[in-house]
Amino acid sequence: METSPLTLIIFGASGDLTARKLIPSLYRMAQKNRLPADLTVVGVARSPWSHDQFRDRMAAGVREFAEPDWNPDAWRTFAPRLFYVPTDAGDPEKLAVLGRWLTQHEGTAGGRRLYYLSVSPTLYEGIITNLGTSGMAEANGGWRRLIIEKPFGRDLASARELNRVLRQHFQESQLYRIDHYLGKDTVQNILALRFANILFEPLWNRSYIDHVQITVSEAVTVLGRGSYYDRAGVLRDMFQNHLLQILALVAMEAPARYAADTLRNEKIKVLDAIPVPRFEDACQQLACGQYAGYRQEEGVSPRSRTPTCAALRLEIDNWRWRGVPFYLRSGKGLARRTSEVLVQFRCPPHLMFPLPPGKTLECNRLALCLQPDEGIHMNFQAKVPDQEGMELHATDLEFHYRDSYPDVPIPEAYERLLLDAIQGDAALFMRSDEIERAWEIMDPFLQASENPGGPEPETYVLGSEGPKNAEALLAREGRRWDTLCKH
Ligand code: BG6
Repeated sequence: METSPLTLIIFGASGDLTARKLIPSLYRMAQKNRLPADLTVVGVARSPWSHDQFRDRMAAGVREFAEPDWNPDAWRTFAPRLFYVPTDAGDPEKLAVLGRWLTQHEGTAGGRRLYYLSVSPTLYEGIITNLGTSGMAEANGGWRRLIIEKPFGRDLASARELNRVLRQHFQESQLYRIDHYLGKDTVQNILALRFANILFEPLWNRSYIDHVQITVSEAVTVLGRGSYYDRAGVLRDMFQNHLLQILALVAMEAPARYAADTLRNEKIKVLDAIPVPRFEDACQQLACGQYAGYRQEEGVSPRSRTPTCAALRLEIDNWRWRGVPFYLRSGKGLARRTSEVLVQFRCPPHLMFPLPPGKTLECNRLALCLQPDEGIHMNFQAKVPDQEGMELHATDLEFHYRDSYPDVPIPEAYERLLLDAIQGDAALFMRSDEIERAWEIMDPFLQASENPGGPEPETYVLGSEGPKNAEALLAREGRRWDTLCKH
């Protein structure tokens, strides 16, 4: 049946994500000849646009967000794949308008459909139910798949409920829950580094690693998303998904093969090994900050205590990691945009070289630079030349994607994810058990950040290094945040 018509149906097509990420990614993939030749894309939203009006808006999106790749001829070839059906998918009768359009487009033999929920999360359950009850989730001449954007729930209970609704109408194998960090080449490179090399594995455990830091910092503020963000905060927006997914890739065991279930089985084992803290412990292991001026952002409560920056400490109670802290931090309105995993190795058990008074040895570090300067840095000691005695200096071995692949820009994460979903590869999407466990871990931290007794967010200056309490979280264990990646 793989030859029946193939359609990507984007619900919420008048929204930002479609113009900013989805259509530019599809357009770029068409330019790279990766898009199945027969793929049709149907935008669905309530705005009363025609096919041509939708195409014009998407052209503007590609011009703005994929500017270097803009090519009028390429667009003229691509645009006829795009269609638009104005309707309200949350209303069963109005969804039928789309059903009829698709049936007509596909013909009597039916077709393959990839639905994409890019709407407000408040509409998820309604649309999922309507797809199910209208029969649009049933395979007819080809498969049905569903991509769901984040946020997936706002706590464990709501994520469980959403999974329950999904299960009424779809099988798990039809579901593609997005975490766009998994679509990043550098995040996938964590797997390559760990499982395509022998070099790191013998050291990748509690005997040789002192601790791990995962930093995802952003210079941007909440931009126009104040009303969403004020209900979410950095813990829901970044930690429950992106940071925990990065942690799982850094900490998991080697899957037997690269396949959706083997990979996700290993990730869930890591998440399962993270003890869920009690409220009092979460209060201790969490630092929160809010940038000055956040409460004046549009859509934000003037009394908001929503954290725009946070740092927290987790442990993984298994044989590999017992006793090794994983420190996670993320925030907006910070000095720079950088995402980095820093692995701090233990120090050599004995140093035969005398160090100058007051100097301590900088022990080995490995940094996985996820963005913006994608690559890897390995920091080690080397002898300074032509000195009396043995003077040591820490130096970096560096790998940069931009130097090794000067003609291959790092692609947009959505390119890979859209193509994988079209091809039925769910390896880089989150399974229901991963999502639920991630919420289970984060719920106590959320409660700590939202309730009396938990840490009040410390105000930090826009463009600064963030709240001091994030430093204190590490300092009390004799450690400090560190960075090796270039910005
Ligand atoms: C999104 C968050 O999931 O990730 C945003 O909702 C955040 O608030 C974004 O800015 C960061 O993604 P990236 O790819 O720019 O690091």
